[in-house]
Amino acid sequence: MLDRLDSLLEKAKGALEDSRDLAGLDEWRVKYLGKKSELTDIFQAIGKLPGDKRPLAGKRANEVRSALESAYGERVEALKTLQRDAILQERVDVTLPGRPIDAGRLHISTQTLRTIYDIFAKMGFQVFEAPEVETELNNFELLNMPAGHPARDMWDTFYTTREGVLLRTHTSPGQIRAMRQFCPNPIRVILPGKCYRYEQVSSRSDFMFYQVEGLAVGRRITLADLKGTMIEFGRQMFGADRKVRFRCSYFPFTEPSVEVDIDCILCGGKGCSVCKQTGWLEILGAGMVHPVVLENGGYDPREFSGYAFGMGPERIAMLRHRIDDIRYFFGNDLRFLSQF
Ligand code: PHE
Repeated sequence: MLDRLDSLLEKAKGALEDSRDLAGLDEWRVKYLGKKSELTDIFQAIGKLPGDKRPLAGKRANEVRSALESAYGERVEALKTLQRDAILQERVDVTLPGRPIDAGRLHISTQTLRTIYDIFAKMGFQVFEAPEVETELNNFELLNMPAGHPARDMWDTFYTTREGVLLRTHTSPGQIRAMRQFCPNPIRVILPGKCYRYEQVSSRSDFMFYQVEGLAVGRRITLADLKGTMIEFGRQMFGADRKVRFRCSYFPFTEPSVEVDIDCILCGGKGCSVCKQTGWLEILGAGMVHPVVLENGGYDPREFSGYAFGMGPERIAMLRHRIDDIRYFFGNDLRFLSQF
């Protein structure tokens, strides 16, 4: 019996060496380790041996079985490695460059916003967030535009089905929120965020866009402070030797009101198609906070004064990068977005 086991081990190992693929190995397993294998026969024969011969033969048979099982396992692994190597050599050109992975990037509006934050942070302004869904009260009424005020026509508005609730048409209602939160302390904040207007969409106006509002409130703040701040901003944003010009304008919530221009970054003021031959580009609206608005924010206008300004980062990015259509910003076309 022991001889039979030894020669079985020899034979099986030899056959294992000869199997060249996984299918051959499987045949081998059925033949040498399967239910109908010689080994199974031997185990059955051992059962019929006289009692004193059984233990030795049984032990040897178990050894042979585990030797065959581990030899089989090793062979499977070896063959798999061989196959993998063969595939790698034949099919994969390891010198081929990989496919580039598209990296995400910041949206051009976000980049512009961050530049604006940096400039104002250096001048001591902190960011104050206010909601996009606003009350008619904050968006108009408390900004000195009671119901029926003709100036409301300056902002075409998306109203909600809820009475008195709308999508803010500018970031100015955030002025009321900031004042009510900080009163009676001085304020120096910028308020960035999305605004919505019920507009005919065109190359110059979209129904959604960003604005950055600025607000400073304190004692003895004057128009000179506003001018200095705007000149500094204009130069940091558009170049150190920019000229900055102030024109009279009108907003119900500021008095006096101004619009701020820079000399054309393309022609330097000589006149070209970008500045429509005027030599100037408008960058924002601003003014001294109206006494009524200060009062609505909780400040006594006899003691406090302030200035406010509002700008559109998309418009600023359009000027800086010479983008001729605002619809590109939220048109989700990667050919446009990936240029920045
Ligand atoms: N809210 C104004 C607008 O949307 C801009 C502005 C802000 C003007 C603050 C003056 C002061 O047009």
